[in-house]
Amino acid sequence: MRRRDRRWDIARNGVPKISAQDCRLIDLPKVHDPRGNLTFIESINHVPFEIERAFWIYDVPGGTVRGGHAYRSTHEFIVALSGSFDVMLDDGSHRVRYTLNRSYHALLVPNLIWREMINFSTNAVALVLASSPFAADDYVRDYSEFLRLRKIQ
Ligand code: TYD
Repeated sequence: MRRRDRRWDIARNGVPKISAQDCRLIDLPKVHDPRGNLTFIESINHVPFEIERAFWIYDVPGGTVRGGHAYRSTHEFIVALSGSFDVMLDDGSHRVRYTLNRSYHALLVPNLIWREMINFSTNAVALVLASSPFAADDYVRDYSEFLRLRKIQ
């Protein structure tokens, strides 16, 4: 039986109880090897949701801002596979900034968290594991609408 974090089920059902403090860095296993290090992610052990999509962002021109939205229901797990970038997270009350620059650190970002990704280094590759398939209507791109959705929780 798959392990489940109850709060995530609640969030998925549209009653989010999560905040920017619930965004956190997760240490992934690192297998040290003189031939080159290896890190892995196991859905059941490291990711508190079922992974339904993976995408990656790369070839980002200097100075670019990505994101600038929240998701109504999608949770994400973000890893800097290469290079570095900053992820700015906002739950409507608190803002936190993470610099991702290690391929064995994953940033957990629940739904209804506004995010921006900035300061991409030239070689940056951002891997994102997501809890749902792509759906344009899951995006909240208007900040006032985001605040309204946070308030009704
Ligand atoms: P978007 O999520 O807005 O990028 P970011 O948040 O990194 O700035 O996505 C950019 C475009 O790519 C948008 O037109 C939707 C499309 N897209 C997909 O078709 N599938 C996907 O899985 C994702 C993440 C985006």
